[in-house]
Amino acid sequence: MYEWIKALHVIAVIAWMAGMLYLPRLFVYHCEAEPGSRQSETFKVMERRLLRAIMNPAMVAAWVLGLGLAYWGGWYAFHWLQAKVALVLLLSAIHGLLARWVRDFAADRNQNSQRFYRIINEIPAVLMIGIVILAVVKPF
Ligand code: HEM
Repeated sequence: MYEWIKALHVIAVIAWMAGMLYLPRLFVYHCEAEPGSRQSETFKVMERRLLRAIMNPAMVAAWVLGLGLAYWGGWYAFHWLQAKVALVLLLSAIHGLLARWVRDFAADRNQNSQRFYRIINEIPAVLMIGIVILAVVKPF
C-alpha cells in the first residue's frame, strides 16, 4: 500500500511542478499582450484553468499523500523530511503568490514586469532540485 501512495505522491508532484514552471512563463508572454486584446483574454483562460484544474488539486494531493507517507513510513522525526517540508512550504507560498497574480491579470491590474516573472520562474525549479535531493538521497 505504501508504495502505491508513494507513486500517487510522485504523480501529484509532477502535475503540480508542471504548473509551477509553466504559469510564470505564461505571465511573461501575457505581459506583451495589450489589456483587452483577444490574446490577453486567451491567456486569462489558460492561466485560470491551469491554476484551478491542475495546480490547486495537485498541490493538495501532494501535501495529503506526502503527510500520509511521513506518518505511515515513520519519517516525521528525520531531519531530511523537516528540511523538505520547509522547502515545500516556500513552494506553497510561491503558489499563493502565483494565484494572486492570476487574479491581477484577470482584472487587467498586473503590476509586474516581464523581467520580474522571468526571475520568479527560476525559484520553483531551484526549490524542486533541493526537495528531490532531500527525498531521494536523504542526506541527514
Ligand atoms: C507537501 C509536503 C510533502 C511531504 C510531507 C512529503 C513527504 C514525502 C515522504 C515521507 C516520502 C517517502 C520517502 C520514502 O519512502 O523513501 C516522499 C517521497 C517523495 N517525494 Fe515527497 N513530500 C512532500 C512534497 C514533495 C514535493 C513538493 C516533491 C517534489 C518537488 C516531492 C518529491 C518526492 C519524491 C521524488 C519522492 C520519492 C523518493 C524516493 O522514493 O526515493 N515531495 N515524500
